Amino acid sequence: MTQFKRHTVTAALPYANGPLHIGHIAGAYLPADTYVRYLRLNREDVVFVCGSDEYGAAITIRAKKEGITPRQIIDKYHSINKNAFERFGISFDIYHRTSEPIHTETSQAFFLKLHEQGLFEVQESEQYYDEKAQQFLADRYIMGTCPKCDNPKAYGDQCEKCGSSLSPLELKNPISTLTGTTPVLRNTKHWYLPMHQFEPWLREWIVNEKQNQWKPNVYGQCKSWIEQGLQSRSMTRDLDWGVPVPLPEAAGKVLYVWLDAPIGYISATKEWAKNNGKNWEDYWKSPDTKLVHFIGKDNIVFHCIIFPILLKAHGEFILPTDVPANEFLNLEGDKISTSRNWAVWLDEYMDSFPDRTDELRYVLTSISPENGDSEFTWRDYQARVNNELVAVLGNFVNRVWVLMHKYFEGKLQGSGTIDFTDETLRQATVETYDVLQKSLSSYKFKNGLNAVMDLARAGNKYLTDGEPWKKFGSEPQKTAEILNNCVVLTAHLAVCMQPYLPTTAAKLFRLLQMPQTTYCWDEPLVLQAGHQLAQPQLLFQKIEDAEIDQQIQKLEKTKLTQSPAAPLKEQITYEDFTKLDIRVATVLACEKVPKAKKLLQLTLDTGIDQRTVISGIAEYFEPESLVGKQVLLLANLAPREMRGIVSEGMILSAQDRDGRLVLVGPNDTVISGSQVS
Ligand code: MF3
Ligand code: ZN
Repeated sequence: MTQFKRHTVTAALPYANGPLHIGHIAGAYLPADTYVRYLRLNREDVVFVCGSDEYGAAITIRAKKEGITPRQIIDKYHSINKNAFERFGISFDIYHRTSEPIHTETSQAFFLKLHEQGLFEVQESEQYYDEKAQQFLADRYIMGTCPKCDNPKAYGDQCEKCGSSLSPLELKNPISTLTGTTPVLRNTKHWYLPMHQFEPWLREWIVNEKQNQWKPNVYGQCKSWIEQGLQSRSMTRDLDWGVPVPLPEAAGKVLYVWLDAPIGYISATKEWAKNNGKNWEDYWKSPDTKLVHFIGKDNIVFHCIIFPILLKAHGEFILPTDVPANEFLNLEGDKISTSRNWAVWLDEYMDSFPDRTDELRYVLTSISPENGDSEFTWRDYQARVNNELVAVLGNFVNRVWVLMHKYFEGKLQGSGTIDFTDETLRQATVETYDVLQKSLSSYKFKNGLNAVMDLARAGNKYLTDGEPWKKFGSEPQKTAEILNNCVVLTAHLAVCMQPYLPTTAAKLFRLLQMPQTTYCWDEPLVLQAGHQLAQPQLLFQKIEDAEIDQQIQKLEKTKLTQSPAAPLKEQITYEDFTKLDIRVATVLACEKVPKAKKLLQLTLDTGIDQRTVISGIAEYFEPESLVGKQVLLLANLAPREMRGIVSEGMILSAQDRDGRLVLVGPNDTVISGSQVS
């Protein structure tokens, strides 16, 4: 199928500082898994590596915030993510970790080789230093005002409001996020990769060679990077979490996470090779190996420019043949956001729908952001599952199996080998294999899946048009022939499904009573007359509205809880607090204030007196419903006249998630007048 002898397929190493969401899955992991399953079907020699990216400031920042160690964070998320991938059926050969010793060795050796070749430019520069925390600040640890859009919360590397990439020195009013103090500039030494030296080579390798090979979104980004001119980039950091720089003069420094992380692909391959009796170098150093990186679009520059420069400079490694990066997946009309919790998390999906892996695989492939951003909505998920998987594929197979058992006890009729007797079906099947082969080898996963579903549709139509249920009485042989054709078609569907919907393919093989091994494309499917099929069993369950409503509600809830809390008010003393006379009062009577939409007039028993209070809560309460309730009253507030009524105090309320007011009162009944302190 290709001129390559073997394949090294990588999927971006997820940061072990948070769980995976469907955007990650649609962006990199599902297409990678589909591709690898397809290669294996072709009996290709392939290794599929991934693992946790466990260094970098994102992880130390998170640890600081939660008051735990980076190690605790990475252990937690490594296992959550590894499990989620397993449950979802992503078939990595290894899910490694960059905190493993073999990775430290591998990336240090890589760095040293480059160092010995004199590649790096060592430069002293001024960098922000936090005197209170006694450390240099990674770009992410500095916040300040964006010089371009005046966003006061820009980071040292990027402004998330206007999207500009920044350097910490450009920020106005920089603040250390570690201590809240203003950092000072100090001299430090770093090892820089002179990227500009590689510009001519990159022009040749990418701009010329990859023009018609790489996806336009990937090629376009690379070309524009190269044309903007490449600058030196520091490959070391002043941090205490990372792979130590293996040079005596670099004590306390670690490798830049974007240097060590992609080398993580190599160390993962080494570990896998060691455990499986393979030679890792075959997969990284042999020109007849095809290296393919699956990533999301935010990783393009690292995989197409920086890592290839490093591999090229090192000299012993092959370069990626393809980097089929996807664009972003949005969710219910909004960008997926980890910090806002606006996401469908893979582990939570698997908890809610443990038997619906293929449903998610199907939908995410159908809407894959292959050429541009796309969108996941729960309603669309439901519609695709119910109208396509259930109504087309599931329904076809179920009708065939029920009829086979009704008329023929589930046995293929006729004699000898059973194959298509219908030319249209045979043709459609041959074409489907062809489209699949072409689509999968060129990363057009959506296209291939559509072709498989079209084949199922052709089966449905053939069955409906053939009406075998009307023919059994008069032409039993014709009925048998139609149903045999449908069974043969189902067998081909099972083979074609394997890269996309592995669980469904396995179910189909079980229904077919064919051994559940991996069927290769080139293996002839042989079914014999008399072959016994298993009892009918539904492939997919219809998804009910209630299940979807629940998921939508869950998301909506996040949106509400995420409205930012008001900033802390200025500090006060205890004496200030004691000036407030807050006490429990019981509502004796309550009525609307005439001609005032928002106002209620309450008569309160305060323990010391009965008084009238006006409150702006009429939109949220029926007056009668408050009678007898206990509320908190700020009792020594200066009286105020509203609409001709004197209000003596203020009752306390808080806003709920919808912005509605709720009254604040004691959790248990107390006597009226009881003071709050
Ligand atoms: N952890 C990075 C991210 O999630 C991806 C790293 S890919 C690797 O964006 F090549 F560096 F490993
Ligand atoms: Zn900005």
